Amino acid sequence: MASNSPLATQQVFIDLGERSYPIIIGAGLLGDPGTYLNLPAASSALIVSNDTVAPLYAQALQQALQGHYNQVLQVILPDGEAHKDWPTLQLIFDALLAKGCDRKTVLFALGGGVVGDMTGFAAACYMRGVPFVQVPTTLLAQVDSSVGGKTAINHPLGKNMVGAFYQPVRVICDLDVLQTLPPRELSAGLAEIIKYGPIADMAFLDWIEANIGALLAREPTALAHAVRRSCEIKAAVVGQDEREAGLRAILNFGHTFGHAIESGLGYGQWLHGEGVGCGMVMASRLSQRLGLIDTAFVDRLRALVQRAGLPVVGPRLSATDNAGRYLELMRVDKKAEAGEIRFVLINGPGNATVRSASDALVREVIDACCE
Ligand code: NAD
Ligand code: GLY
Repeated sequence: MASNSPLATQQVFIDLGERSYPIIIGAGLLGDPGTYLNLPAASSALIVSNDTVAPLYAQALQQALQGHYNQVLQVILPDGEAHKDWPTLQLIFDALLAKGCDRKTVLFALGGGVVGDMTGFAAACYMRGVPFVQVPTTLLAQVDSSVGGKTAINHPLGKNMVGAFYQPVRVICDLDVLQTLPPRELSAGLAEIIKYGPIADMAFLDWIEANIGALLAREPTALAHAVRRSCEIKAAVVGQDEREAGLRAILNFGHTFGHAIESGLGYGQWLHGEGVGCGMVMASRLSQRLGLIDTAFVDRLRALVQRAGLPVVGPRLSATDNAGRYLELMRVDKKAEAGEIRFVLINGPGNATVRSASDALVREVIDACCE
């Protein structure tokens, strides 16, 4: 792929012993055969993409992989969060089996977080595990979902409820592909970037505030820094707690409220990043009501989320008992223990904690934060 950007390629290493891998960040990577050197040897590769991304980038990836494998196959899934489900997952297994793909076949996830999560889950399951490479094409996927090995599909009763921890062997973040991303999707990615500030790095939050215009304008150097710093923070957390025994839960800041919004409205109504953006405002308000941060911090975060083009007022999920509906949905969250919801809260700027709160207080916060 031709690139107009003089950006130097950078690497972030995710250190997980024998499951370690590099995250490669730069311009012009996707269509460069050199990007795919030294992957596990195999005769077949399967590109998994969707009907939006494939017309843009599958041919370039196909050509780049051609010299590395005897056959490079493609399976094109229907686009959208609503298709992150069993029947769509089955299409990947259908393609693998129909073409006689063996247990060394390498899967390439070409798309956003939906394609990445489903391809990773398929890779974890096919013949009990084949290697896979993440080629994330959304900002959200480059800064979060492609890194760290969480793979899943949704269940009608809960988001990402069926899945596995399964690490990719490489992540390739080609910044050029972000130029074709719809503006709403760009904003959704900014939510996950903003997330890293309050939970881990206030200097990064300062930087995002100063550079939000450059990020919205898709300036390559700003995008490169945001992707690299986000991946560094995520790699450090996942390196300490791969399977979310504790620390990794902080990466879910804003997600408990956000997942309730996503599943409560029906998958695909609000984007994942939109739920997370609004969810961070709600979780920070809860943190403030528990005395962990001051109002100024909540206002600061809310303003940044809004500047990123994200919603800051929660939708109504029930005409009769809105807060009750949020609570009901949040009890299905994976962090919940014995029916008790556990929230990622900001425990002073740059520091996160996971704890429960009384239903009465959570109701108050929901009432204050929703339309
Ligand atoms: P997505 O995968 O639905 O992609 C967003 C939209 O952009 C889709 O319509 C897609 O086809 C389109 N698109 C993708 N790349 C494009 C490009 N370069 N140009 C034009 N259009 C493009 O959404 P997402 O925000 O990338 O990912 C959200 C999903 O990721 C959710 O399912 C969420 O649960 C999951 N997620 C997983 C993790 C994890 O750790 N595994 C973390 C965060 C989110
Ligand atoms: N996106 C949260 C995690 O990877 O743990």
